[in-house]
Amino acid sequence: MDTPKERILRRFLAFLSRYRSLPEARLATLGGNGTEARLWAESKIDHGWLIELNRKLRGRLIEEHGYKIHNRLGTFHQILGGYGGDEGIVDGFHLDLCGTMREGIISDFTPILPLIFKSKGRCLAITVADARRNLALEDWPTTKERALELFGKRSRGILRSLEAQARLLPVRRTDHPAWMKPFNPAKAAKREFAMLVTVGEILLPYRWTPVAMERYVYVSSYQGHRFRMRTYLFHFERKNADAPSLTDVWKKSPLYFDTPEEMLDIDLQKPHPSVHIPQGVPMLESKLGEVARLFGGATAAEYEDLLGKSQQLSGILAIIGKNVIPGTEQAMVPKIVTTPAQNGGPQKKKRKLTDLPEKEQIEWLLETLELRAQNDQKWLNGSWEARLRESFGQFTPPLSKSIRATLARTSGGHRKSFEARIHSAFGDKAKPYLDRLSKL
Ligand SMILES: C[S@@+](CC[C@H](N)C(=O)[O-])C[C@H]1O[C@@H](n2cnc3c(N)ncnc32)[C@H](O)[C@@H]1O
Repeated sequence: MDTPKERILRRFLAFLSRYRSLPEARLATLGGNGTEARLWAESKIDHGWLIELNRKLRGRLIEEHGYKIHNRLGTFHQILGGYGGDEGIVDGFHLDLCGTMREGIISDFTPILPLIFKSKGRCLAITVADARRNLALEDWPTTKERALELFGKRSRGILRSLEAQARLLPVRRTDHPAWMKPFNPAKAAKREFAMLVTVGEILLPYRWTPVAMERYVYVSSYQGHRFRMRTYLFHFERKNADAPSLTDVWKKSPLYFDTPEEMLDIDLQKPHPSVHIPQGVPMLESKLGEVARLFGGATAAEYEDLLGKSQQLSGILAIIGKNVIPGTEQAMVPKIVTTPAQNGGPQKKKRKLTDLPEKEQIEWLLETLELRAQNDQKWLNGSWEARLRESFGQFTPPLSKSIRATLARTSGGHRKSFEARIHSAFGDKAKPYLDRLSKL
């Protein structure tokens, strides 16, 4: 019989197979004891990379499996990227950690993302220990600040939705073995929320967003110890990714809880009897909120979502009425402004690159450089004109000329000043943008 970890690994293969046939897929994972490699072989996967730091484990992996081996996560993108073409991509990457997403792991892993985005499968699994070595609760004030920067006022509603979902996990069933310890849903939600913030920070600069996701909670054994683990599966599409679309997919994604007997698919629509009002939270805002929280589960989550949207709308109305709440302007202005078209359909308002806020200008320039690089540094078949029309609602020779000049100021002798521009716009969050630039 499969162990819980094996069941999750098989789930990832099944998830990937929706987007890419497994025998054609290219996979990579952290090597460990080779369990995943064994399942790859069973699924007739020919193209795989095992990344393993530990010399002994690496030796065993070389002996027992026919997959390519690399020793360090941090240099994997260079090795794989060096192959180029169809070999320089990864359809399914598993960041299979024993602990949590720490700074070193994040900076090692982030440069691998573009290799996933370039593939046909575009799937990622992240496995983390739920509580072990997880500093989310100790670092809670920092997590809250980072969340506020990403999600603004919606942060609290998102956390409440995750807590409502954590309350649906059947952790207090008396028939569970002793090692399936009950856990505090409020703390579990905070840890999941911290993970969402980290994933948001890593992903959003790339403008790719998950369009499908699955979440798993289970207990796994590693080196003789049992730990509660979480695995998150993602499939990405290139979209105007933003924080609300990420949180929406996250909160609505199926949540599974693995027990020794079965994999439970948690019914997120189910009302939950226990109502939790966290300490220090002001009295419920309205009777409707009170009722929604009494129902709990998906009803409470939907209410929080609507509350967040209504707060956002109030902000937009305040801006329109020139009554801007300081510091909230950028987050609340909708990204695409539309005006009625002559033919009745919506049409993007005409604008120039310099009409965008500085951070968006840099993101647009990086994305455009990446698109050009993917096409051998050429804009073919009207793709340049289409890019400008799509982004700015117009294509005119002066606009084209000025943007080509701005693009020219990102490379060659101008590279250093473009890097300085990124530093000054993004401050301590500049690294992923600089990494992207360094690959161009
Ligand atoms: C949970 S295990 C992987 C399990 C494996 N996927 C399996 O199914 O058997 C994680 C492995 O990653 C390795 N590791 C951790 N950090 C690493 C890094 N920065 N570079 C390479 N390997 C690393 C550890 O030595 C450990 O063996």
